[in-house]
Amino acid sequence: MRILIIGGGGFVGRKLAERLAGNGTLRGETIAHLALADLAEPEPVSAPFPVTAHALDIADRPAVDALLASDWDVIYHLAAVVSAQAEADFVAGMRTNFFGTFNILEACRERVHTPVLVYASSVAAYSTDVPQPVADWTATTPQTSYGTQKAVGELLLNDYSRRGFVDGRGARLPTVVVRPGAPNAAASSFFSSIIREPLQGEPAMCPVDVSQEVWLASPRVTVGNLVSLAEIEGEALGGMRTLSLPGMTITVEAMLEALRAVAGENVLGLVDHGRDPKIEEIVRGWSARLEADRALALGLERDEDFERIIRDFMATDMRPPA
Ligand SMILES: NC(=O)c1ccc[n+]([C@@H]2O[C@H](COP(=O)([O-])OP(=O)(O)OC[C@H]3O[C@@H](n4cnc5c(N)ncnc54)[C@H](O)[C@@H]3O)[C@@H](O)[C@H]2O)c1
Repeated sequence: MRILIIGGGGFVGRKLAERLAGNGTLRGETIAHLALADLAEPEPVSAPFPVTAHALDIADRPAVDALLASDWDVIYHLAAVVSAQAEADFVAGMRTNFFGTFNILEACRERVHTPVLVYASSVAAYSTDVPQPVADWTATTPQTSYGTQKAVGELLLNDYSRRGFVDGRGARLPTVVVRPGAPNAAASSFFSSIIREPLQGEPAMCPVDVSQEVWLASPRVTVGNLVSLAEIEGEALGGMRTLSLPGMTITVEAMLEALRAVAGENVLGLVDHGRDPKIEEIVRGWSARLEADRALALGLERDEDFERIIRDFMATDMRPPA
């Protein structure tokens, strides 16, 4: 089993690589080689099998062709210019999220060997313009350039799968919280900052009203679901290859209440409240109430308890308070 993770230097890619290293198998086969590709060569993870690291810009078609010329059994496509950045820089978003995705699909099409391709879409493919809760068969009507680029990728994944060029599976990821490390350019970044920074003894800014809802999932459950998506049979997805990963609907207020319950009043005091109209507008346009019946029927998991998500972060990813 040879696996390639594109976007393997990012948050989810790295967690996925660590999970695969721990599992040692995928689709019932021993992993023989894991390759991580990203704009900058990713740090390899330690694993009981060879792990290689590759610098790759997916907008560079010859470079994508060269890396995919070596036949991969499973390819995870997690590379993206994320939401706020794709909104601020339309060309950068199109270049990676649209043309980059197209390049990966085209490179797969030219292979004799049909790979399993797991594609990270986003809840941003949906909007609040449609009846809520959003069901699996609700039309994607994204209200951002990022969401539109992700939704286009979903359609292409369907057609490339129908034609037998890839065995595609797409996952609309909920906002993944708590993200370790530094804030990123996603409009959703603050959902992690308001938990992570206070726990690490640093101040954080909440840029939206606390009544704002979000559809979120933990890194642990998200990565487990990405593994499961590679393991199911592609035919089980029918013509619509992308599904919504299970998440939980929670308000910012309830997130902060869970932070107080886990870490106490002093930690909560590090969260300041302001308003950022740009972030508010983007986040308000994302649906926070979804049904993920298809994923649950396929055995994918869901988080039930936000306090547990905080405790998991403290156990695995938290930097000790400064
Ligand atoms: N984390 C979330 O909350 C969330 C929610 C919804 C969807 N997603 C999607 O899941 C995937 C992984 O998210 P993440 O949180 O790990 O994001 P991330 O930003 O941490 O990782 C994405 C990686 O893609 C790489 N990348 C960007 N442009 C590239 C290019 N042209 N060529 C090669 N690599 C490039 C970046 O360097 C980065 O390491 C993304 O596709 C994202 O859109 C994530």
